[in-house]
Amino acid sequence: MKELIIIGAGGYAKSVLDSIDYSKYEVEGFIDEFSKKKEHLGISIIANSLESIKDKEKYCYFIAIGNNKRRKYWFDKLKSYNLELINVIDKSSIVSKNATIGTGCFVGKFAVVNSKAIIGDNTIINTRALVEHGCKVGNHCNLSTNMVINGDVVVGDGSFIGSSSVTIGQLTIGAWSTVGAGAVVIRNVGDNVTVAGVPAKIIKEGAMLG
Ligand SMILES: CC(C)(COP(=O)(O)OP(=O)(O)OC[C@H]1O[C@@H](n2cnc3c(N)ncnc32)[C@H](O)[C@@H]1OP(=O)(O)O)[C@@H](O)C(=O)NCCC(=O)NCCS
Repeated sequence: MKELIIIGAGGYAKSVLDSIDYSKYEVEGFIDEFSKKKEHLGISIIANSLESIKDKEKYCYFIAIGNNKRRKYWFDKLKSYNLELINVIDKSSIVSKNATIGTGCFVGKFAVVNSKAIIGDNTIINTRALVEHGCKVGNHCNLSTNMVINGDVVVGDGSFIGSSSVTIGQLTIGAWSTVGAGAVVIRNVGDNVTVAGVPAKIIKEGAMLG
């Protein structure tokens, strides 16, 4: 049994706590930078910073922060201390034996990661998201509930793909971009833009989420 510290005592931690394999991990508590509470969801908030944890190497870690940039900040911090990050993969999800998933990733309830898909580090694949065969998803992405990226789509680092959006064709979504909820993406999306609608069009330069 390994002792697990969860970074981030917010809403997303609810899903994470539900999907942890408790035969392998025992939750020691949360680190939360901003919370003044002593506990969250019945679990102690043991620190407001990583620096105040003694014997850091004794624990493994999971970052339960939805915001991609903030999650990246914590990922880089944990890596700089050479600490162990785990994946949280819900038992109801289906991850092909021919798919590759990095470290620090979340795969939620009924999500599917199909054959030959490659997922980077620190990426969220939320409830019922579908990553089809051969997709390449970068680090620090957030693939929201019920979104679909069809076969061989490429998603750059840090992008946020909204709920129930869908891609059509073997296209590329750039880095640190946002796809709106319900969008139908039919063309490549560049870096650092927000697209939305059917068909998806640029609504803002700069990513609004993530
Ligand atoms: C795309 C999104 C990021 C834009 O947010 P925003 O920058 O605050 O945008 P605004 O609300 O100011 O809307 C800007 C314009 O885009 C339109 N728009 C916003 N979101 C849209 C969407 N998903 N589909 C179609 N049009 C959308 C608005 O109607 C508005 O149009 P107008 O200028 O003609 O009035 C946001 O609406 C969205 O879809 N977020 C995804 C949420 C989600 O999936 N969460 C998952 C949680 S797991």
